Amino acid sequence: MDDNSIAALNESLHHADPRDILATLLPLLGHTALSFSGAEDVVLIELTSKTLKKLEPALAMPRVFTLDTGRLPAATVRYLEVVRKHYALSLDTLTPDPDEVRSLVAAKGLFSFYEDGHKECCAIRKVAPLRKHLAQFDAWITGQRKDQSPTRAEVPIIELDSSMAAVGRRLIKVNPLANTSSAEVWDTIRLFDVPYNPLHDQGFVSLGCEPCTKPIGPNQHEREGRWWWEEATQKECGLHYKSGNATSE
Ligand code: ADX
Ligand code: SF4
Repeated sequence: MDDNSIAALNESLHHADPRDILATLLPLLGHTALSFSGAEDVVLIELTSKTLKKLEPALAMPRVFTLDTGRLPAATVRYLEVVRKHYALSLDTLTPDPDEVRSLVAAKGLFSFYEDGHKECCAIRKVAPLRKHLAQFDAWITGQRKDQSPTRAEVPIIELDSSMAAVGRRLIKVNPLANTSSAEVWDTIRLFDVPYNPLHDQGFVSLGCEPCTKPIGPNQHEREGRWWWEEATQKECGLHYKSGNATSE
């Protein structure tokens, strides 16, 4: 897919419903991975499986993957299994390089992110396994939304993910929920009885690794519970670096 086609699709899908976005794009993407973090982005799995049932000719479900950082809350790990069974998924669980984790922990301990920022640990536990995995795909689908954070205000529906340029690959990234609000995500979860992570009922809104996520209080923005000791403009872990996201890196 060339840059002009990406721009034209963005234009035509700008006001489209996520299911129409998926119905238009899934047949164009080639070998596709669908990311699932164990949080409310479960709606992507629900909407993708519903959309696929209506497509002619039939298409296979994208490969669903999750980054198991080794620091996920136990409830999230259990929830991944609930989702795997509910949708009869073949779930790719990506784990970090054990030697890299061992070196970091030996040098700096298990909580270095509280002292010198989350990026080093995220680079090992999330970004490296993600990049390695995505090298096998033509496209990936994410649950990013514009309303999640100031760093995501420009997230487009479809874009070129420049993270693979260094290895000469053209990777397409699709963000079907870019223009969807948190309230709409939860309407979908309730409407279709989608299984959701029980931590959401305990005040956790945006969910990630256990040491880097806390519940939020009334009127706090959803990402205030993520890496709360850092500035809002630093709250990207590198998964979405150099695409539609503004980061200070
Ligand atoms: S993060 O960059 O701050 O960790 P966030 O939790 O907001 O990301 O999730 C945004 C999107 O990033 C998710 O919808 C998903 O596409 C992807 N993502 C984040 N964490 C994971 C994960 N552990 N496994 C797979 N995808 C993830
Ligand atoms: Fe490490 Fe925290 Fe990043 Fe998880 S979110 S990979 S524990 S810094």
